Formats: sequence, structure tokens, C-alpha cells
Amino acid sequence: MNAKPFTIGVLTSGGDAPGMNAAIRAVVRTAIANNANVLGIVNGYEGLVNGEFRPMGARDAGGILQRGGTILQTRRSERFKDPKGQREAIRRMNEAQMDGLIVIGGDGSLRGAQALASQGIKVVGIPASIDNDIWGSDMAIGVDTALNTIMEAVDKLRDTAASHSRAFLIETMGRNSGYLAVMAGIVCGAELVLMPEVESTIEEVSRALEDAYRRGKNHAIVLVAEGANIHTTDLARMLDDMDVGFHTRVTILGHIQRGGRPTAFDRVLSSRMGVKAVELLLSGESNVMVGLKGMGLTSIPLTEVTSQTRPAPSAYYEMAKMLAR
Ligand code: ADP
Ligand code: F6P
Repeated sequence: MNAKPFTIGVLTSGGDAPGMNAAIRAVVRTAIANNANVLGIVNGYEGLVNGEFRPMGARDAGGILQRGGTILQTRRSERFKDPKGQREAIRRMNEAQMDGLIVIGGDGSLRGAQALASQGIKVVGIPASIDNDIWGSDMAIGVDTALNTIMEAVDKLRDTAASHSRAFLIETMGRNSGYLAVMAGIVCGAELVLMPEVESTIEEVSRALEDAYRRGKNHAIVLVAEGANIHTTDLARMLDDMDVGFHTRVTILGHIQRGGRPTAFDRVLSSRMGVKAVELLLSGESNVMVGLKGMGLTSIPLTEVTSQTRPAPSAYYEMAKMLAR
């Protein structure tokens, strides 16, 4: 009698990120190529607790490579954070004879993966979050697409800023990380970046804008990470009361940064990570996250991933500042 094929569960969790679908596709098709079964778990950890599982074949992963969002849906699940919820999830997995689980999500989702791993479940994580705040991977799935979306938006706002000689304060997402703001600062040539990793004062901001005005710039772009110590709308209000040379306008980019077709970079990264995650599980390696290091993929223990935070590199902040003169 043939042995039961290895059954892999796959879920997406936390904030959606462009490329999650490409990763799902890679997981499903790599598993099938290796005679393993896949159960898609709908609604992230919430669906794991509820037993919302559906078998996935090659055709179920068709036509999704180029789509943003996630066909498996994603949720933030309070119930799963509770050990009782986790026990129920494990019961559901055992009932479905799931041999291993692939979690595609951000740092919170990976903490959830670690919680399951510590209770004997074989888990492999795939970093997916536009915030790029996950320890152990140079890039997470979705970051490149989000950055390109921001770049396109800022380029457009600059047209208006330049035509009206205005300063635009543009808020990016990133939760506690300034990665998107500082990288956008570099790729869009911002005058100033405000990010959680660097404390800023209103005086510094007004001085930078005044200096830019005096140096002959006819407009200015300030990128503000949502987690920065000064909030965008407060900053705009305070600048209105000062004479910095420019009139200011505020744009909060919001969830537009999370959607849209993944870039070629994100499709390649998602596909490689999906393939690698299945290979790791099938070769008996688990309780790790797949990470990008330089051009190569590695595996990092989930305990390490979840015990560290990853601030945006200050070198990029200095670089953005130097190039803004
Ligand atoms: P992201 O994965 O994008 O960082 P969240 O931080 O909201 O998003 O986490 C997604 C989900 O992961 C949470 O809703 C919760 O179900 C689960 N999770 C987060 N932190 C933990 C934790 N410490 N233990 C168990 N599960 C967690
Ligand atoms: O983690 C991704 C992210 O978009 C953060 O940048 C942001 O702080 C948060 O999720 C927003 O969450 P929600 O979609 O629940 O408003």
C-alpha cells in the first residue's frame, strides 16, 4: 500500500501584500510537482481555528500570479492569540491530517507561526508585509510593489507641488518602520524624511523647508512615515502658522499602498519563496522562515525571527538627507 501523501496547509495572514497570490501559486504547484497535497486555509488563523480548509489543485492557483491581495483572504484573529484558540487550530489540523503548515504574512503572523511550532506543528514562514520590518529577510513580499506605488504617487504630487510652489507632506504606511518612507525619500528625491527610527522636531522640519526655499527650490516633498514621532496632520497645522516660504498640502497615501499588481521583483521573490518553503517542509526542515539574503534564499529559525525587531537602516536616512541638497 502507498504511504499517505504529505499534506501541506497554506494560509495568508495580517495585512495583505502584493505577491501573496504568487506565493500561494508557487506553494500549490511545487507541492503537486512533488506528489504532495495542499489544503488552502481561508481567512488566515481565524480560518485555521474554524477549520475552513479547501483542497487546492493546480487549476485553483491559475490566473492569480498577477493579482494583488490574496485569494485565500486574510484576517487579524484575536481568538488565535489565545492559547485556547491555538489548541483548537491544532485539533483542526490534526483532524484534517495536515502534516505541515506554510504561513505567508508579516511579523505578527510569524509570531503566530512560532506559537504553533512551539506546540509541535511543522511550520515554515514566508515574510509578506509592505512594511519590510521582518527580521531575517532583506526584502519581504509586497515591499517592492508598495514602493513603486508610492513612487508613482509622489511623482504625480510633485507635478502639482512644482506648479504651485508648494510643500507636500506625504504620509506612507509602515506601522513602526520607516523603511517605505526613507526608501521613497531616496527614489523620489524628498527634501526631508520623518521616520520612527529618528526623532524629529518641528523646528528641524521648518528649518529644512526654509533652507530649501532659500536655496532656490520652488517646491518641497516631505515623506512622513505613519509611525514618525510627529503626526502628518499636526505637522501641517504647525507649519501653517510659520512662514517657511511654501504653502503646504497633505496627502495620506493609505491603503492604496497595499494593493495592485505585484512588480516583476515581487513575482520572482514570491515564486522563489513559495518553492523553497515547500522544499523545506518536504525535506524535513521546519520551524523556520524563508529569508532573502543578498541574492540568495536562506532559512532562519522562527525563534530568531520573532525575538528581534528590524529598524530601517539609518544609512538610508543619511543618504536621503545628503542627496536632498
Ligand atoms: P502582520 O502579520 O501583518 O504583522 P498582525 O500583527 O496583525 O499582522 O498579525 C496577524 C495575526 O497573527 C494576528 O491577528 C494574530 O492572529 C496572529 N498573531 C500576532 N501576534 C501573535 C502572537 N504573539 N501569538 C499568536 N498569534 C499572533
Ligand atoms: O502591516 C501592514 C499595514 O499596512 C501597516 O503599514 C499599517 O500600519 C497597517 O497594516 C494598517 O492596518 P489595517 O489594514 O488594519 O488598517
